[in-house]
Amino acid sequence: MKHLVGLLLGTEEDWPVAFEEIMRRAMPAYEVERVTIEPFDLRDEPRYDVVIDRLAYWYYHPREWLKKIAMMDDVYLLNSPFTFQSMEKHTAYCAMMRLGLKVPDTVLVPYKNPLDNARYAYTSARYNKAFDLDAIAERIGYPLVMKPYDGGAWRGVSLVRDADELHRAYDESGEMLMHLQKAVDGYDAFARSLSIGAETMVMNFHPELPMHSRYSVDHSFLSPEVGEEVVTIGRLVNAFFRWEFNSCETLIKGTDVHPIDYANACPDVALTSLHYYFPWAMKALVKWTVFCAETGRKPRIDLGTREYFAVEGTYAERLAAYRTLADDYFETERYHEFCAERLAHLDEAVLDWVAGPSFDRLLMNAVTATYPAHEHDRFIAHFRGLLALWVKDNS
Ligand SMILES: Nc1ncnc2c1ncn2[C@@H]1O[C@H](COP(=O)(O)OP(=O)(O)OP(=O)(O)O)[C@@H](O)[C@H]1O
Ligand SMILES: [Mg+2]
Repeated sequence: MKHLVGLLLGTEEDWPVAFEEIMRRAMPAYEVERVTIEPFDLRDEPRYDVVIDRLAYWYYHPREWLKKIAMMDDVYLLNSPFTFQSMEKHTAYCAMMRLGLKVPDTVLVPYKNPLDNARYAYTSARYNKAFDLDAIAERIGYPLVMKPYDGGAWRGVSLVRDADELHRAYDESGEMLMHLQKAVDGYDAFARSLSIGAETMVMNFHPELPMHSRYSVDHSFLSPEVGEEVVTIGRLVNAFFRWEFNSCETLIKGTDVHPIDYANACPDVALTSLHYYFPWAMKALVKWTVFCAETGRKPRIDLGTREYFAVEGTYAERLAAYRTLADDYFETERYHEFCAERLAHLDEAVLDWVAGPSFDRLLMNAVTATYPAHEHDRFIAHFRGLLALWVKDNS
C-alpha cells in the first residue's frame, strides 16, 4: 500500500529536500508531496496519511485546512494546530508548575499600550487595576527576564537587572503581552532538546554564540541523571499537550533543572543550526512519520490532563510516573520495536547518503542560501567538517 506524506512549508528548503531524499532512497512505499494552498471544500477527502506542518503558525488558510483534516479525516499531524493555538508558552508554564516542575517564578503583566479596540478605553478605565511594577520585580527578585507570553525567535526578550531596565523593557513592550520571569542566574548548562515523536536529542546550547555555533557536539555535558530528567521533562510536556515535533529549553544549575521555554510549534531544524545533529533529526522525522502511517496510530486532539494531575509523591516519584504516562502516549517501546524490525535499513541508507555527493550539494545550497558570498568557503568547510565527524562516529 502506498502512503502519502504532505509537507506544508514556508521558506525552508534544506530539511524538506533531506526528508524527500531519505524517503526516496529508503522508503519506496512512500510518496512525499509539498502541499499547495488552494480553496478546499470542507467535505473533500484529503489524500494524505501524515502532514508535517511548518506554516500554519502564521498562515491561517492552511491552518484551517489542517484543523479540518484533523477533525474530519483523522490525518496525522506534526503538529496539530489544535494543540498549539491556545497552548503556547504561557499555558506550558501553567501546566508545568501544576505538575511540580521547577519553572522560575513568573508573572504576566497587562499590556503596556492600549489595545486597538473601540471598547478598550471604557473597559480599562473601569477594570484595569493600577499596579506597582517595581514591587512585582522586587518580590520576584532581580535579575529578571521580560519576554512575550507566547515567545518565539527571541522577539522582545530582555534581561532586566534593575528598575531602570525594568521600565525600559516594559515601555518597549508596547502591544506585546509580557511575562516577567525570575532569571536563572549563573546556570551551569543550557540544554536544548529536540523531540520528534518518541525520540529526544538533548544538545548543549550556547544562546550567546552566533547561530552556527549554538549547538556544540558534546555528549557528556550533563550527568546521566540530569540528562534523563531533561528527556523526561520534554517528553512529559510533549505528551501532555500532544506536541510531537517540538524543542524544549532547560537551564541546569547544580542538580536543579529549570524549564524556561517549552512550546515551539515549528522548531529550528536548519542544517546550518543543527549540523552534526541534522542527520539524526531527519531520521527521527522519517521514522516517526512511517511509524504513525503504518501502525494506524490515531491522532489525538483532546488532552488527558486528569491522569497527569492525579500523580502524587516526591519530585522524583512524580517524574517517574510522568515518564510512564508520556512513554505510554508516545508508545515508546512499540516505536523502538517497530524501528528495529522494519526500519533497520534506514541507518545505512542515511549514512551512505550523508557521506555522498548529493548531501554535499544540499549542504552547499544551504550555506549559499544562509550566508553572504564572502563567507561561503569558510562555512562550507565548517559544516563539512562537522558532518564528516557524524559520518565517522556512525560508521
Ligand atoms: N528565566 C530565564 N533565566 C535565564 N535566561 C533566560 C530565562 N528566560 C529566557 N532566558 C534567555 O532568553 C532566551 C530567550 O528566551 P525564550 O527562549 O523564553 O524566548 P523565545 O522567544 O521563545 O526564544 P526561541 O524561540 O528563540 O527559543 C533564552 O534562550 C535564554 O537565553
Ligand atoms: Mg527559547
